[in-house]
Amino acid sequence: MIGIPLRRLERCDSTNDEAAAWARDPADPAPHGAAVVAVAQQAGRGRQGRAWHSPAGNLYMSVLLRPPLAPAKVPPLTLCAGLAVAEAVNDAGAPASIKWPNDVLVDGKKIAGVLTEMSTRGAELEYVVVGIGLNVGERAFPPELAATSLALATGRELEVDRVREAVCAGLEMWLERYLAGGVPALAGAFSAHSALAGRPVRARVDGALVEGRAVGLRDDGALLLEDAAGCRHAVVAGEVHEREEGP
Ligand code: BTN
Repeated sequence: MIGIPLRRLERCDSTNDEAAAWARDPADPAPHGAAVVAVAQQAGRGRQGRAWHSPAGNLYMSVLLRPPLAPAKVPPLTLCAGLAVAEAVNDAGAPASIKWPNDVLVDGKKIAGVLTEMSTRGAELEYVVVGIGLNVGERAFPPELAATSLALATGRELEVDRVREAVCAGLEMWLERYLAGGVPALAGAFSAHSALAGRPVRARVDGALVEGRAVGLRDDGALLLEDAAGCRHAVVAGEVHEREEGP
């Protein structure tokens, strides 16, 4: 079960670090599905070395997974978490979309992010930590963050614990589907929720800037762009930016 056992902390630097330390604890190693939540984080981390704004009132959760996967099959777990979060946000009454690979947006503003980290030994996967930050109750964000929350988007006060339960149930379902069917089992839902589907975008592929339209997912979870000549390019990491429509 995803989210069981659950460790609750008032405050920590990063729940991802706490979950990794628990995974490595020889006396009591965290089992598959274990999770750590904190009321607030002092050094919450986002992708690409960014900080994650983490005051009290939101969901900060890291789930420890020990899936039977090779390390190369781990990145789509970020998509599983993104789907779980987007569906929980939708069910709460805010129309959510996913910006590949890890942002969940409402009205073009970021409501959640996913930070997936793994530990390997040789070619073997030891464990994965899927960290999820979802803005639940916060009502005033620093303007440079272009962020929103469930409270702002729905006008309702939601309990962080209920939101966490919904996200964990969704993650359990999408993880099962991914383990059974790979990325193709996620692709339909992902494209239905994708903020970028069919949009003109720009991204780096093998160091070169590529412009095209986002047309779907490759079987390893990379985002496929189709350029004006009809060639397809796979974005495996980094940022994807929307651009103005070309001539
Ligand atoms: C991103 O959008 O860049 C990813 C943000 C991930 C934030 C979450 S909050 C819980 C967990 N602990 C962290 O330090 N980061 C993740």
